[in-house]
Amino acid sequence: MPYAHITGWGMSVPSKVLTNDDISKMVETNDEWIRDRTGIRERRIAEERQSSASLGAEAAIEALKIADLLPTDLDLIICSTSTPEHIFPATACIIQDKIGANKAGAFDLSAACSGFIYGLNMGAQAIRSGSSKNVLVIGTETLSRFVNWKDRNTCILFGDGAGAFVLQASEQPGGTYGAVMHSDGSGGDLLSIPAGGSRNPMSELTLRTGMHFIHMDGKEVFRFATRVMAGATNEAVEKSGWTLDALDLIVPHQANLRIIEAAARGLKMPMDKFMVNLDRYGNTSTASIPIATVEAVQQGKLRPGDKVVFVGFGAGLTWGALAAEWTGPRQATRRVVKPGLFPWIAPIRSFLRRLGRLIEGIIFGRKA
Ligand SMILES: CC(C)(COP(=O)(O)OP(=O)(O)OC[C@H]1O[C@@H](n2cnc3c(N)ncnc32)[C@H](O)[C@@H]1OP(=O)(O)O)[C@@H](O)C(=O)NCCC(=O)NCCS
Repeated sequence: MPYAHITGWGMSVPSKVLTNDDISKMVETNDEWIRDRTGIRERRIAEERQSSASLGAEAAIEALKIADLLPTDLDLIICSTSTPEHIFPATACIIQDKIGANKAGAFDLSAACSGFIYGLNMGAQAIRSGSSKNVLVIGTETLSRFVNWKDRNTCILFGDGAGAFVLQASEQPGGTYGAVMHSDGSGGDLLSIPAGGSRNPMSELTLRTGMHFIHMDGKEVFRFATRVMAGATNEAVEKSGWTLDALDLIVPHQANLRIIEAAARGLKMPMDKFMVNLDRYGNTSTASIPIATVEAVQQGKLRPGDKVVFVGFGAGLTWGALAAEWTGPRQATRRVVKPGLFPWIAPIRSFLRRLGRLIEGIIFGRKA
């Protein structure tokens, strides 16, 4: 059975920064309160031209560069997002077209902030089963479009961004090991966007009552999160046949510093074993784990051979963890066409396919 190695990683965040002081001009809050209760100092906000697909595609290309793969080498794209471009088509398909991954299947996965763990596990299973060789897993969000900027309970927390991993099949032991995925739908109402789906389609009433925004019971979500983080980490470690003291790093979902500190206490592990960057990005939901991982690698906190656990929780309720031995980048091959060229080539290919469809339609009319 092949192993699923993480051979590429990338991130993309908007350049526009929104500080706590900026938010204090919009709602009654202040920098000290937000830092004290959450650890967040600032977050990134997408420009109008940016979207979940554009950020996701940029992160994907960065990950492919490190893995030394072309988009055309991919068999599968899994895009985890709670802020998709549309209900359908899937954001994964929009990214597939943007990067020119013309041999890949593509679908979205909805498991809120746990989505990247779920996606990584599904991607790894596709490789372990032999059905895929090269899988791209993306976590991307533009939560700023669903935040009620008049609600101080939620608007202080969230930010925009994307991260991506490339998974590759290899006979060499390593890569992903034990993983767990959990859910408890009885807590679905604790964190939700009530309108915009088939239960409450968008209407004048849903707009007037703000049901298209994020609604959250912060205290209950906090309690749930502190309960599940340590447990899920322990489960993934046990499933891998490892012990906690063998871990080099834990990359937790970046929601609130106090939640991460509670997990550290629960696991009896020092805080320096936890990657934390929520002070600069806030909670980017499913993108937070890959973004934190990219920065951990850049800061030398995650090196080839290290044992790492990714652990997350979120709406659903969902939670999960995945253990991995960090592989590091593959040896680069010398080739003329580089992954970075594809964002330029892919739109031409996409245009030609649309044109071909138009011409076909003119020639054959509407007959099947
Ligand atoms: C949202 C959260 C930061 C609130 O912190 P808290 O310590 O629970 O704060 P409380 O909700 O108890 O509010 C305490 C007081 O601060 C006030 N308050 C709430 N938000 C505030 C803000 N942004 N600025 C200033 N005061 C605020 C409340 O109104 C309350 O005032 P009151 O005592 O007069 O009623 C915290 O509950 C949390 O992080 N929960 C988890 C959320 C999360 O991670 N969601 C995403 C999951 S993926």
